[in-house]
Amino acid sequence: MHTSKLVNQLAPSATIAAAAKARELRASGVDVLEFTLGEPDFTTPEHICEAAVAAMKDGHTHYTPATGLPALKESVCRAFARDYGVEYTPAEVTVSNGAKHAIHNVLTACCEPGDEVIIPTPYWVSYSALVELVGAIPVLVETTEESGFCMTADQFRGAITAKTRLLMLNSPSNPTGSVYPVEALEALAEVAVEKDIIVMSDEIYDKLIYDGYTFKTFASFGQEVRDRTIIINGVSKAYAMTGWRIGWTLAPENVSKAITKLQSQQTSNPCSVSQFAAMAALDGPQDCISEMLTQFQSRREYVLGRLRAIPGLSFADPGGAFYAFFNVSSHFGRTLPGGASVHNSSDFCTALLENAHVALVTGDAFGAPGFVRLSFATSMDIIEAGLNALEGFLAE
Ligand SMILES: Cc1ncc(COP(=O)(O)O)c(C=O)c1O
Repeated sequence: MHTSKLVNQLAPSATIAAAAKARELRASGVDVLEFTLGEPDFTTPEHICEAAVAAMKDGHTHYTPATGLPALKESVCRAFARDYGVEYTPAEVTVSNGAKHAIHNVLTACCEPGDEVIIPTPYWVSYSALVELVGAIPVLVETTEESGFCMTADQFRGAITAKTRLLMLNSPSNPTGSVYPVEALEALAEVAVEKDIIVMSDEIYDKLIYDGYTFKTFASFGQEVRDRTIIINGVSKAYAMTGWRIGWTLAPENVSKAITKLQSQQTSNPCSVSQFAAMAALDGPQDCISEMLTQFQSRREYVLGRLRAIPGLSFADPGGAFYAFFNVSSHFGRTLPGGASVHNSSDFCTALLENAHVALVTGDAFGAPGFVRLSFATSMDIIEAGLNALEGFLAE
């Protein structure tokens, strides 16, 4: 049966593929140490689950408005004003089936085929694929370990052409964990206003910020910036709710209306019960976030300490999220005991998985050859065993 050119040319999600490869090896009886997952390893807090059960029992099991319940949109606005002092109205909120769906909606609603979308590398695996899916063109701008993986205003300006529609920004970043300093964001905001470019600011990791780093939402740099900004967020990472599939946009009203029209013809509403759970997450006690963050913080310190001690690895300290993104290119050219040699990050990950049973994700998937991503959203026991195995593998 025919399948479309558009979908045929699409690369499958490399993080999901890496997890599948690890699962395959595990099914064959091997004890795999898994560091590929992009989700908190904690269960959703009890009070959120209870709100979902109550919603089901109260009969909230029907369609809701296409882009979410008015009460949830109010919760989103209230939480954003509480956390960042920036006011939005419910008419500027659309709720979707997770942040990934929200991103696809934004690109569909804002881009024409042939428009250019600027994406600083390394970038989250789905960004370029989602841009291609709407017929737009990803324009990759390389950032370096030395700059903390932050695109400068000059780089942004240099990448803009008459066809540029939108910038996809992600801070804290998946895969690097980098957090743009406030001045760097301000400088990008100035260029966006001057050149009239839409900035889609993916702030899904906003609550996972480590000591010494500051998060500032892109919508907080004044009205002219806010008018050109679309915020992406959701409950997936902050409240350990990846499976509930609730994400949203904060956008100018005309964009929200366009997304509402789109979603009403496409998926209709996100799960009604999950919407009640998301309200409980946003309006309820927030200490569940700090409890999770405390654990991420100690894992982060342990992981970075161990990686620093392994010869030939380098990285920029992650200021947020739960990833360590390190450079392994000094090990390229080495030969394994079986005779195979490692030429790139994908070879490195395959060799590490097959020989040391440690699963990482190749940097190639994020537009960053030479690097690999380790997610520390897993237990300390696994982290310790994994780093021992990585160290042993590289010492051989
Ligand atoms: C940067 C970034 N944006 C968006 C998402 C998607 O989040 P959701 O699970 O809510 O679709 C992820 C998930 O890994 C992510 O890392």
